[in-house]
Amino acid sequence: MILPILIHPDPRLKKLCDPVGQITDDLRRLADDMLQTMYEAPGIGLAAPQVGVTKRLIVMDCVKAADAAPRPMVLFNPEITWSSEDTSTYEEGCLSIPDQYADVQRPASVTVRWLDREGQAQEETFTDLWATCVQHEIDHLNGKLFIDYLGPMKRSMITRKMEKLKRERARGH
Ligand code: NI
Repeated sequence: MILPILIHPDPRLKKLCDPVGQITDDLRRLADDMLQTMYEAPGIGLAAPQVGVTKRLIVMDCVKAADAAPRPMVLFNPEITWSSEDTSTYEEGCLSIPDQYADVQRPASVTVRWLDREGQAQEETFTDLWATCVQHEIDHLNGKLFIDYLGPMKRSMITRKMEKLKRERARGH
């Protein structure tokens, strides 16, 4: 099922999300719906608060090549356990901030620990786009958006554009 994606500004995108306890069928269904919603958008990552659920769950697939096998990932309670000192800069976007992009500097690689779709503990070190994506999505679980890394002028300009977009969508344009 395709879920509606919340557009910034929205109080649910600013919340500290709650850890997930037992991985239930309802949570697995939510994760599957989030993956479907992400692929449909299209996007490479999606966090539960973006679909209005303030729980610590993210999904992602950063495989770029069209002929490569997809790698849909479901991460419950993801935690960064190590960050590299060297950084990389990517032009980031966000499904909750459509058509806006800006350079964000982050650690170039991170080790993340999480529970997978079956509730098994996993740990992996991510690099390149995967590292940027997982950090961007984990930020969502802490109420943080990529525009929070920008200067106040740029951030408020983007926020005003999003308010205008939401007004237009509400009017049915
Ligand atoms: Ni995002």
